[in-house]
Amino acid sequence: MNPLDATKSGFLLCIAVCMFIYTFIYLKDTLSAEQEEQKFSTNRAECGFYPDELCSALFVGKTAALKIGNICQNTYRPAALSCVQTSCNCSMVFKALHFITRPLSDEEGNFSLAYIITIHKELEMFVKLLRAIYTPQNIYCIHVDEKSPTDYKAAVQNIVNCFENIFISSKRENVVYAGFSRLQADINCMRDLVHSKIQWNYVINLCGQDYPIKTNKDIIKYIKSKWNGKNMTPGVVQPLHMKHRTQVSYREYVHSGTSYVYPTKNAKTKPPYNLTIYFGSAYYILTKEFVEFTLTDARAKDLLEWSRDTYSPDEHYWVTLNRLHGHYIRDICVYGLGDLQWIIESPHLFANKFEPATYPLVMDCLERRHRLKVLHQAEVPIEDDWRFQEDNSFNMKLNV
Ligand SMILES: *[C@@H]1O[C@H](CO)[C@@H](O)[C@H](O)[C@H]1NC(C)=O
Ligand SMILES: *[C@@H]1O[C@H](CO)[C@@H](O)[C@H](O)[C@H]1NC(C)=O
Ligand SMILES: *[C@@H]1O[C@H](CO)[C@@H](O)[C@H](O)[C@H]1NC(C)=O
Repeated sequence: MNPLDATKSGFLLCIAVCMFIYTFIYLKDTLSAEQEEQKFSTNRAECGFYPDELCSALFVGKTAALKIGNICQNTYRPAALSCVQTSCNCSMVFKALHFITRPLSDEEGNFSLAYIITIHKELEMFVKLLRAIYTPQNIYCIHVDEKSPTDYKAAVQNIVNCFENIFISSKRENVVYAGFSRLQADINCMRDLVHSKIQWNYVINLCGQDYPIKTNKDIIKYIKSKWNGKNMTPGVVQPLHMKHRTQVSYREYVHSGTSYVYPTKNAKTKPPYNLTIYFGSAYYILTKEFVEFTLTDARAKDLLEWSRDTYSPDEHYWVTLNRLHGHYIRDICVYGLGDLQWIIESPHLFANKFEPATYPLVMDCLERRHRLKVLHQAEVPIEDDWRFQEDNSFNMKLNV
């Protein structure tokens, strides 16, 4: 594949990744536009077996479902999650929040993922994410923004305390968007994770507004089939229009209420070891071996120091180091044509930026579909507490 094709594939990947994000934004916006036109009121009968029946219709793109869904989601505001605003004992946390408490297959039991989740608000959304990706054989490092309110931190701690394999990172940053602190937060968690007694194979980073589209089993199968022993941190040589990010020195401005990153007039020196800077995703799936390399290698440490005053260093640090590590997949060419259908149809490990408070039905549908898939794939007997919904005469179809 020539370099242009490689770049094109890279963009296709980006487009694919963006597409799934916008699917939900589109759905959301459409719902809001419909709201304005809505003249008639609805009764509960029109909502059917709420929300499963509407979810099924939405997943196959039935337009009438958008209209009805918009009304019904106001009629049936979901109740607040138990044990989130009020504190519970741990047996209630497991039960009421439907946490999966055993590995669901041998394959999953023998392949552990580490998660780094950076959060600062929206406690409910975080709990929804956590219970979706939680399995007892994985390990979870939660980075709670140092500037979050005390009661927020306490509520997170309360839930985390119930699990031996979930912890809050020992060092916490005051995270500034596009600042070095964002990268440092991940590194703090990595340090804790490599020192943990719990073994893990790969680490995945997420933020509190992400939600999985794939099950734990799907994610493992995907990693094993395409990426075994390699890192997933797609990127390209830093494009010209991104050069400013590393050419001058940036500073973080942190003051009560506002924080941002701004450029100074000071030119930066060349990168250490004459490294070529790559640019790519701040989201990754990395091997444990690579994480240990980034925490100990002299070039990695020097690049980290050099990146301290750059703009959004999380978007060049992992990608650049991956090129040094030798186990990367050459460019983005790995996504051949054969992969495209897969990418477009169901690549989405995670979707981003949910606003469950405004559009509860979207989140409800995703959650229910995800859990049904998880239980459907389980190879062990299913416990009643793991189910989100009662078995009723109508079940969401999964083959969509
Ligand atoms: C946990 O709380 C529930 C409900 O408040 C109570 O019924 C249960 O006995 C408690 N369990 C333990 C182990 O304290
Ligand atoms: C790991 O796999 C082996 C078979 O290869 C199985 O006997 C064992 O139960 C698995 N471990 C877990 C924790 O599921
Ligand atoms: C740094 O790398 C560039 C291109 O990659 C090369 O042209 C240049 O000679 C190198 N400089 C040093 C000091 O190695």
